[in-house]
Amino acid sequence: MTIHIGAKTGEIAETVLMPGDPLRAKWAAETFLKDVKCVNETRGMLGFTGTWKGHRVSIQGSGMGMPSLSIYANELIRDYGAKTLIRIGSCGAMQESVGIRDVIVAMTASSMSTPSRGFFRELQFAPCADFGLLEGAVAAARAKGVNTHVGGIYSADVFYDERPDLNEQMTRHGVLAVEMEAAELYTVAARFGARALAVLTVSDHLLTHEALPADQRERSFGEMVEIALEAAFG
Ligand code: HPA
Repeated sequence: MTIHIGAKTGEIAETVLMPGDPLRAKWAAETFLKDVKCVNETRGMLGFTGTWKGHRVSIQGSGMGMPSLSIYANELIRDYGAKTLIRIGSCGAMQESVGIRDVIVAMTASSMSTPSRGFFRELQFAPCADFGLLEGAVAAARAKGVNTHVGGIYSADVFYDERPDLNEQMTRHGVLAVEMEAAELYTVAARFGARALAVLTVSDHLLTHEALPADQRERSFGEMVEIALEAAFG
């Protein structure tokens, strides 16, 4: 047990999928895994362990934003020995070429700051994905016929952004989409020698103001779970 995860030692797999929403963790575990056990209920941040095609895998909610994700990523890696962490979540598109429901595989994640920012002092650390996972996810997404983009994303600290000029700069510099967790996931994984990746579905568009209809959200989320599992074990 850790402060935020109630699982016993050995109850969490080396590969962990991390949706922001704990109820999504429950749905994904019940839909895609066999022999599922709920291993965490602390603070309602549900976590599950089961198997996928014979491989042990856990699905643990991260909560929203980098401080929350950082707690779970630190404890999963340092206390439970997680070695592969894949965020599955939603994002807002920042380029005209990116459409609603498209999948983004995040090669890098820019940020204003992360909970790890203090470590680096004057250094601007460049959080990046594990290349093996990235290759696997891109191959899996393309094999499914999903419209897929690979590139940089922006991990924001706020959802209700009072600095639209900053989003404009991100768009201008080719950033594909905005979400709120990947930069810290990549940084914590790098620090402890774990592999990390973020696979994201575009749920809304900052330029066109379109949004994914509610009835399509589950289907898109399911595709991401499969892409993440294939990236981890394929
Ligand atoms: N901003 C931040 N995070 C998000 C967004 C957004 O517009 N859409 C989905 N996750």
